[in-house]
Amino acid sequence: MKVAVVGATGAVGEVMLSILAERKFPADEVVALASERSAGSEVEYGNRKLTVRDLASFDPVGVDIALFSAGGETSKAYAPKFAAAGAIVIDNSSAFRQDPDVPLVVSEVNPEALNDIPKGIVANPNCSTMQLMVAIAPIHRKVGIERLNIATYQSVSGTGKRAMEELGKQTADLLNFNAAEPSVYPVQIAFNVIPHGGDFLDNGYTSEEMKLVWETRKILGDPSIQINATVVRVPVFFGHSEAVAIETREKISAAEVRQLIDQAPGAELVDMREPGGYPTPVTHASGNDAVFVGRIREDISHPRGINMWVVSDNIRKGAALNAVQIAELIANKP
Ligand code: A2P
Repeated sequence: MKVAVVGATGAVGEVMLSILAERKFPADEVVALASERSAGSEVEYGNRKLTVRDLASFDPVGVDIALFSAGGETSKAYAPKFAAAGAIVIDNSSAFRQDPDVPLVVSEVNPEALNDIPKGIVANPNCSTMQLMVAIAPIHRKVGIERLNIATYQSVSGTGKRAMEELGKQTADLLNFNAAEPSVYPVQIAFNVIPHGGDFLDNGYTSEEMKLVWETRKILGDPSIQINATVVRVPVFFGHSEAVAIETREKISAAEVRQLIDQAPGAELVDMREPGGYPTPVTHASGNDAVFVGRIREDISHPRGINMWVVSDNIRKGAALNAVQIAELIANKP
């Protein structure tokens, strides 16, 4: 099996390569691709080094699985070419997520969507949607979800490597009494929070907020779920957090939700109701695979309301890990 990683020098691409090696994905050959800028440089694949090749001049014939994480425009331009050459493309960008002929898959939640891949392209959900699905799908299956109200606290790695460098540099500059220069984000990110992710849309929401709406409905196969989201960028390097308020169709107790989370594949319950007895990006999510759930409690303002706090490594489960898990499901198909 020949595997290509497109965007191999990026924040997600690097982790895709390390997870492929860590999980011993059955690849005979792995090709690292990026732009012309980084062609010839080296990236790590387990304890080996791969020389990065230029995507634009690469011939995709012979590639079985291509993992794309090089931005929407690159996916739009190259994913159909890889698919036409016979590869199954697993695309981490938002380019194809809304296409009805492209399955949008969270490996533990809707793997059956991989039974039909008409365009040869599978979409990996947005990182915030990903961790939300692992946490709420068991509740939706048990009692039905009527409405979700979500506030996110998203780390800068979700924006890419330059954003991580910006947070580091601004922090150092400010601690040295120098001015912080915003470049990737419109305002200072160090020691600040920014209520903005993606582009502003006509309805006043941002594109990152509307992804949570569209993607949740598609993955759970239920267009009737009402969703309201506020996306916020916080000065954290790895790990997105979400405060999630759920209104269910039938009443469910906090104890029952705790039990569901405890048994849910990909989820880990961290809910001790004491100082530190909850997940945070630094103590739990960063560098780990699970979606961590805590602060589960019944909503005192709603008869069928449940609150929870959901934290996960946005680069691992939120992007690279789920893409590799999809690749494993495809590789293991009879
Ligand atoms: P490069 O390093 O050559 O620019 P991040 O999300 O961390 O910013 O990473 C984006 C990834 O997508 C990088 O690997 C980057 O490669 C790659 N990339 C961006 N634009 C293109 C392009 N036009 N063709 C191929 N790869 C691209």
